[in-house]
Amino acid sequence: MTALICGSFAYDNIMVYPGRFREQILPDRIHILNVAFLVPELRREFGGCAGNIAYNLNAIGGAGRPMGTVGTDFEPYAQWLSTCGVDDRHVRQVDGCYTAQAYITTDLDDNQITAFHPGAMDHAHVNTVPTDEGITLGIVAPDGRQGMIDHATQFADAGIPFIFDPGQGLPMFEGEDLLRFIDQATWVTVNDYEAGLVQQKTGLAPAQIAERVEALIVTRGAEGAVVWCKGRRLDIPPVPAAEIVDPTGCGDAFRAGLLHGLMHGADWEVTGRLASLLGSIKVGHHGTQNHALTPEGTRKAFSTAFGFDLGI
Ligand SMILES: Nc1ncnc2c1ncn2[C@@H]1O[C@H](COP(=O)(O)OP(=O)(O)OP(=O)(O)O)[C@@H](O)[C@H]1O
Ligand SMILES: [Mg+2]
Repeated sequence: MTALICGSFAYDNIMVYPGRFREQILPDRIHILNVAFLVPELRREFGGCAGNIAYNLNAIGGAGRPMGTVGTDFEPYAQWLSTCGVDDRHVRQVDGCYTAQAYITTDLDDNQITAFHPGAMDHAHVNTVPTDEGITLGIVAPDGRQGMIDHATQFADAGIPFIFDPGQGLPMFEGEDLLRFIDQATWVTVNDYEAGLVQQKTGLAPAQIAERVEALIVTRGAEGAVVWCKGRRLDIPPVPAAEIVDPTGCGDAFRAGLLHGLMHGADWEVTGRLASLLGSIKVGHHGTQNHALTPEGTRKAFSTAFGFDLGI
């Protein structure tokens, strides 16, 4: 019983400019834009959807293996995965490429300027979903376009149920691509903004998507989540966060909870709450893999938050 987590690995370089972009960018000079920001603070974090989901799932005692493509600069991340005990047999290095990386500069008004280099992620399709390794569940999270298409088809052909999680990969797909993914998937999960984009591209409202899959899960940040399942709408409450530090990666933490619940056959009340709890724990820490989690700690936090035992 193992989940295969298809998606990206990335380094997130996060810089804070202790000023305001608008004071450096002159509107009448925008045609010859040439600005440099001195950023005394730089953090380099391990990220990418497959890495993040695998980190969370492994930390709560779940069985999951990430599958993704990385570059020749992956060594520090590989060491981190090994420290965390994440099984990296499906993490493949592509020669001549860097690992995907984001360079995010934030100013004091919380404006962001981001550059994203996909690097090895664009080769995601060199990996194939294994059919002889006891994979019982999958997720297709944001990754190279062809990789997402191929892995969804490979899961469907192998009869392995999977979650379709288009996330920030949504702009790469047209309505007909999304309809095919929805048709192949057993579950679909998006945040509320992405739900709007999917509706715009496919013409399908959440309740209509839910008719085509076993469940559609829509996350709503601090407001929790909604599970659309078998003609009904189930609201999943948020867990009040001890501190709100950084919302990045809450979606990936949430997805680890979904995989864990689904793998253990838990009902949506339990699966949704576990996912919600993990998102709430994550929001209290910078980065996407810096929050400490243990199976026992998660069980304890679950019963404190909801007043009943997790049971898995
Ligand atoms: N401020 C918060 N307080 C409590 N729970 C939160 C908070 N933010 C997020 N969560 C939990 O995490 C889940 C996922 O968050 P969100 O909807 O922001 O995902 P997302 O937009 O996909 O995030 P990202 O793509 O940045 O990882 C929410 O459904 C909620 O359960
Ligand atoms: Mg997201």
